[in-house]
Amino acid sequence: MSLNVELLRETFNRAKTENGGATRLGLRFYERLFEKYPAVRPLFKTPPEEQHKKLLASIASIVSSVTNPEQMMPYLYAMGIRHVEYGTLDAHYPAVQENLVAVLGEHLSKEGEWTEEMADTWNTALKVVSDVMIKAANDPEAVKDDMLKAGFLPNGYKVNAGIPYEMAV
Ligand code: HEM
Repeated sequence: MSLNVELLRETFNRAKTENGGATRLGLRFYERLFEKYPAVRPLFKTPPEEQHKKLLASIASIVSSVTNPEQMMPYLYAMGIRHVEYGTLDAHYPAVQENLVAVLGEHLSKEGEWTEEMADTWNTALKVVSDVMIKAANDPEAVKDDMLKAGFLPNGYKVNAGIPYEMAV
């Protein structure tokens, strides 16, 4: 299934303004994640009040670079490799995807519509994101050169020590 980029962007923009905006969405993401998947809770050391800003910044980067794979792919490789250090397992990705789509649906249904097509769009995008991160996490050597060209070290951090989840777009 091809990705409906317009719908992805439109729903993300709505999420930033409706129902208390990105902060409400981000905090709810961790609340529901820890409720539904308590096994992942110990992996998170940063409190949700801080962590949700990073998550939302990375989703914003992905949403804006999704039409520019040359920029998005190395960003995702680096993110996948950093996640190994956090104790993330391949099996956690479907849980995070399920949780993000569920909270987005909850969030957008409050003031407007949330359709099957919107859910499919987010599931398609997050499956690609997960697959790319997982692939890099399992075979960092294969993505090393592409990461370096994009300014990332083999450990997934920025060559210039910049904030790795912030993308200049
Ligand atoms: C859609 C996929 C995901 C995205 C966009 C994402 C995004 C992020 C971002 C931006 C950070 C901040 C640190 C950094 O950039 O290196 C982070 C940290 C983290 N993520 Fe993810 N993540 C994803 C999937 C997952 C999964 C599947 C898990 C497994 C439970 C996970 C667990 C963590 C943990 C434990 C941290 C470190 C938190 C801390 O500082 O204590 N993430 N994630």
